[in-house]
Amino acid sequence: MEPTNDDDHRANGSDHNHLAKRSKLSSSALVTDSEIRAEFAHHQSGIARINNGSFGSCPSSIIAAQKRWQLHFLQQPDDFFFNHLQKRILHSRTIIKDLINAEHVDEVSLVDNATTAAAIVLQHVGWAFAEGRFQKGDAVVMLHCAFQAVKKSIEAYVTRAGGSVIVVHLPFPLRSEEEIVAEFRKALAKGKANGKKVRLAIIDHITSMPCVVVPVRDLVKICREEGVERVFVDAAHAIGNVHVDVEEIGADFYVSNLHKWFFCPPSVAFLYCRKSPVSPDLHHPVVSHEYGNGLAIESAWIGTRDYSSQLVIPEVLEFINRFEGGIEGIRMRNHNAVVEMGQMLATAWGTALGCPPDMCPSMAMVGLPASLRILSDNDALNLRTRLRGHFGIEVPIHYQEIKDFQDGDGCVTGYVRISHQVYNTVDDYLKLKDAILQLVHEGVTCKMLSPE
Ligand SMILES: Cc1ncc(COP(=O)(O)O)c(C=O)c1O
Repeated sequence: MEPTNDDDHRANGSDHNHLAKRSKLSSSALVTDSEIRAEFAHHQSGIARINNGSFGSCPSSIIAAQKRWQLHFLQQPDDFFFNHLQKRILHSRTIIKDLINAEHVDEVSLVDNATTAAAIVLQHVGWAFAEGRFQKGDAVVMLHCAFQAVKKSIEAYVTRAGGSVIVVHLPFPLRSEEEIVAEFRKALAKGKANGKKVRLAIIDHITSMPCVVVPVRDLVKICREEGVERVFVDAAHAIGNVHVDVEEIGADFYVSNLHKWFFCPPSVAFLYCRKSPVSPDLHHPVVSHEYGNGLAIESAWIGTRDYSSQLVIPEVLEFINRFEGGIEGIRMRNHNAVVEMGQMLATAWGTALGCPPDMCPSMAMVGLPASLRILSDNDALNLRTRLRGHFGIEVPIHYQEIKDFQDGDGCVTGYVRISHQVYNTVDDYLKLKDAILQLVHEGVTCKMLSPE
């Protein structure tokens, strides 16, 4: 879709049956393999890029659409600002509202990223301490493997304000969802036994490292039963990767990046905030003219900047709907492929997946041979650097500490996190398989790998 004035009539929220459009596509309109290759031809050649999870990917047709929006602004900024920008952002928010099954478009804000969304929610908690609504020692719950930026945000807004933190330890490798549920219940019970009032639970929908899909709906339900006041789901990886239905999940706040698995350019995320008495008290950390007009409106103008990553959402949806089954089809095929590739690697290396296949999204944790002796986070980083520098492979590596581990006892302590996105081919994973086997055959251990 071109960014022309004619498009603006669509911004009124009455013509948004985008999902229905997909089924009307004839099979001839479906994207071909060569078109997919062309869409990602800007990826550096010779690199096995199996880390979509970290920074996502953006097709060239969307990069072109983004440039058109940027030019549209630069051509006549005044006109763009007064007549187009807000309508277009509303249009994008309405598309997301439909996709995630939110009740009202006011519940959907577009922000830069999951880090910004965490700041919005936790700043709100910080004020409650500052204004005396929360008491010293009141608690926030988080998973021990919460994303580092979120942990730091808790430190900045909660711990500093006098709040305490209840940490839920997740075992890894994992055998079932029940293990997560049991640990969650245990941590909540311990916090309550200490007389703590739990003001907020922060739950990942898909943990980053190690990566697993968390039974978030069950955990939200437990929070409600146990009197946890509010629940924030950090679903940075979710949309395009797992099914997202915010009504069904039932959390108060839910954020997902759109630049990870939804093909948007960096950076844009949606933050869903269920309508409630606290809604008017949620604010963007960057205060501008719209302060006090609701989070979605505040977020739609945080000063002069490039808003183009928010404006391309309609074009992104058109891109997605060129694939059979739209976003659901893409994620199912990615999931099946990543599990198949993960199992192929585990067989070749004599290891196993870090969790059952149904707990993998479009990413999978695969055990690395114990002979590589990954014995620290630094070892994991050095191996990742070696794979990138010497073998042209982009893949993150996780060090899993094992209690009572005796150096050299043959335990798997390292995992690769592989991703699968529409541009990946089997060759990407074969390249990783062979690189690891080569290091093993050469008797390389992580101790020998110094930073490049
Ligand atoms: C679980 C989780 N939360 C938050 C983030 C932060 O995302 P961003 O850097 O886009 O803010 C990430 C990024 O990978 C993540 O995995």
